[in-house]
Amino acid sequence: MTSASTPLPVPAHIAIIMDGNGRWAKQRGLPRVEGHRRGVEAVRTVMEAARELGVKCVTLYAFSVENWRRPEEEVGGLMGLLETFLARETANLVRDRVRLRAIGRTDELPGAARAALAAAMAATAHFTEQTLVLALNYGARTEALDAARAYAAAVVAGKASLDDAKSWEGFSRYLYTRDLPDPDLVIRTSGEKRISNFLLLQAAYAEFVFTPVLWPDFGKAELIAAIDEFRGRERRFGQITEQLAAAKAEAAAQRPADVIV
Ligand code: FPP
Repeated sequence: MTSASTPLPVPAHIAIIMDGNGRWAKQRGLPRVEGHRRGVEAVRTVMEAARELGVKCVTLYAFSVENWRRPEEEVGGLMGLLETFLARETANLVRDRVRLRAIGRTDELPGAARAALAAAMAATAHFTEQTLVLALNYGARTEALDAARAYAAAVVAGKASLDDAKSWEGFSRYLYTRDLPDPDLVIRTSGEKRISNFLLLQAAYAEFVFTPVLWPDFGKAELIAAIDEFRGRERRFGQITEQLAAAKAEAAAQRPADVIV
């Protein structure tokens, strides 16, 4: 049985809604962009901790399709931080063998950010050990629209059939996340308990952890606490506990004796 007595493995994919940068800055009488700057520091800390803890994939909600509505100064500040992050971090991603991916309408980002993103992704495309996914100009509904359009275009071009979209496996090939596993755990910081148009389809069976900690204060200890909470959960994927226990026992029985430790 998957319960507190047999903890789940460390999640392979953690997706994070990094909320609370503005409040962190306001509490200190600082401009909002300073909160975002400290948020980038937290990104570095959390990536390092994720690597140490064996988390294979981390997706960060860095800029949503709705975020363009923020004051011009803040949008400009965020784009500047993204460029600086990519310029400074690419060497570290290469050193740590981390593949960088992006999801969202990245073609609508400012030219300099687009160029920095393309360069960082090209430099890290061949790594397979760990993946950092930046959700940039991302919205789950926009992703659904883009997937539907890409699928329709493939059907019209004779490259896909209507039946391809009868199964989730067939249709999900048109999502931005086509080459990524679904998130096992979604974390949202700052005490808000919303999903805010983030990975709505991919998080269908994810576990959620909400923490009051503001994103700039989120570090290794907070990541470990969230993972521990996840590991104590039972994931049923629509089944009942007894079915999961039976499946687990069957899998254990079928495993060759020499790999049972
Ligand atoms: C939400 O906090 C945070 C964002 C909208 C942006 C997150 C961006 C970063 C952490 C920096 C850029 C990231 C990378 C990877 C370069 P909020 O501003 O809504 O906080 P509030 O709710 O307290 O106002």
